Amino acid sequence: MPQVTFEYEDRPSLICEVREGESVLDAALDNGVPGIIGQCGGAATCLTCHCYVLRHEGNLPAIEALEAEVLEYVYDRRPRSRLACQLPLRDGLRSVVVRPAARQI
Ligand code: FES
Repeated sequence: MPQVTFEYEDRPSLICEVREGESVLDAALDNGVPGIIGQCGGAATCLTCHCYVLRHEGNLPAIEALEAEVLEYVYDRRPRSRLACQLPLRDGLRSVVVRPAARQI
């Protein structure tokens, strides 16, 4: 099964398995992962699932127009910023390691 790891600076990492096609947000919400809120339920409108991709195995999906637009407004945007709701584990993306943003809005 595809795997999502959530890494933190101040607490142990959490490793979650997801079904093919589920997103990093799904992994976070299904496992009560701290730091990812997902208030809009994955519609890419709330900015509360901002994370930084640290590592990945397989191809990350490209940033599409809606995600790119929303990322303009996140706090502390970095080159590896993504929205967890826009990161499905499919098409060969076998695992991803992310750090939730310290502040979501
Ligand atoms: S869950 Fe709202 S932007 Fe990702």
